[in-house]
Amino acid sequence: EEALLEERFEARIDDGEFIEAKDWMPEHYRKTLVRQISQHAHSEIVGMLPEGNWITRAPTLKRKAILLAKVQDEGGHGLYLYAAAETLGTSRDQLLDALHTGRAKYSSIFNYPTLTWADMGTIGWLVDGAAIMNQVPICRCSYAPYARAMIRICREESFHQRQGYEALLTMMQHGTEAQRAMVQDSVNRWWWPCLMMFGPPDDQSPNSAQSMRWGIKRVSNDELRQKFVDATVEQAKVLGVTLPDPDLKWNEARQHHDFGTIDWSEFWRVVGGDGPCNQERLGARVKAWEDGAWVREAALAHAAKHTPLQQA
Ligand code: 3HC
Repeated sequence: EEALLEERFEARIDDGEFIEAKDWMPEHYRKTLVRQISQHAHSEIVGMLPEGNWITRAPTLKRKAILLAKVQDEGGHGLYLYAAAETLGTSRDQLLDALHTGRAKYSSIFNYPTLTWADMGTIGWLVDGAAIMNQVPICRCSYAPYARAMIRICREESFHQRQGYEALLTMMQHGTEAQRAMVQDSVNRWWWPCLMMFGPPDDQSPNSAQSMRWGIKRVSNDELRQKFVDATVEQAKVLGVTLPDPDLKWNEARQHHDFGTIDWSEFWRVVGGDGPCNQERLGARVKAWEDGAWVREAALAHAAKHTPLQQA
């Protein structure tokens, strides 16, 4: 019977149907989704930290309001995504425990430090730009609850990208020489880690073939990375910054930009826990969880008082 169910599932995928939470699905499909969606949720929540660090130091009230809104959006994205993962039968506590004990991954990019105000602009432009490139195709993911969550996330992500680009443009066009240098330095530091966000090359990506087959991923790691490079080169010209890659150039035959070799040993080191800020980021999340214990206990005690029948 299992074989028949699996055959029917594969046929639905082939027909481009969307899978809902209560539909039958193979265990491997469920596991792959919990892995990807929970990692994505953790990335949003950990991703609040590098920018949260700058809220008290924003240069104007307007910039502070924008940054606050953006960081709150990221908290919201994490919550939609945890909820989407929970529809697959894994609890929020299990997901968070996997993060706090270092068993779950989150995006490598959030293990880099935010050293200057320009990093707030660059994160919006490049990090959120890369995130949108990767996330728009997930709006068509075969698992419908994930796809639905991604639609709103992508709309908000697009505001994040625009605000970052606009902040950089302001510094480049109206700023001082020192501010322009700060933007260039920031772009130099974030460029390569952003290219790593898309994951390992397709031929070294263990999950890609099956995830593409199931329509969890619609576009491959390398293809998305290329699209990001092509889009960003033009934006860099308008901004007036250079991208720190001497091999970056238009290839007429391919109709794409060629670019230099990514340092994959750095990528695996950061993914493996040994990036510049891994310990600090995970430590901040674990501390927040522990500091919040009394809130969870109080909420449970309050709920228990108001549901005497369920208690019995
Ligand atoms: N950082 C950390 N780990 C990464 C990674 C990255 N940039 N790229 C790949 N990996 C991990 C994978 O999770 C996988 O490990 P696992 O098997 O233990 O889970 C391993 O490296 C091999 O990579 P694969 O290509 O085989 O893995 P996937 O098929 O899952 O593809 C992915 C990786 C493209 C990141 C995919 O999971 C994906 O599209 N995820 C959803 C998007 C996402 O998570 N974005 C997070 C950053 S953006 C963001 O958070 C928004 C911002 O505004 C805050």
